[in-house]
Amino acid sequence: MTKNFTLDEVKQHNSADSAWVAIKGNVYDVTEFIDDHPGGRKIILKNSGSDATSKFVNYHPDYVLKEVAPKFLIGSLAEGDSKL
Ligand code: HEM
Repeated sequence: MTKNFTLDEVKQHNSADSAWVAIKGNVYDVTEFIDDHPGGRKIILKNSGSDATSKFVNYHPDYVLKEVAPKFLIGSLAEGDSKL
């Protein structure tokens, strides 16, 4: 069961209290991951509340989306709002 979120909803979760990131049409709640992110706290927080697909693809090897990100998956992005 996946929930659908609009980009406007994702945008509201842009702080350490609630940090969501959209990547390739999926939405991840990374709030609990901020302090554990190997790339650092600052960059993941700065990009939360947005569709970070292009940056994510630049910085991460493929295994991250397949093996690490799914733990934080909460749903998908509404059709038309996704930067695939
Ligand atoms: C679901 C969200 C994310 C997950 C699960 C995640 C996970 C990870 C992991 C596992 C690594 C280490 C990769 C490796 O070298 O083996 C990493 C590194 C990194 N991440 Fe993320 N990340 C996420 C989102 C982001 C976002 C939104 C940015 C913003 C641009 C970002 C920027 C970086 C950077 C700059 C590095 C360091 C790359 C390097 O040292 O070469 N990450 N991340």
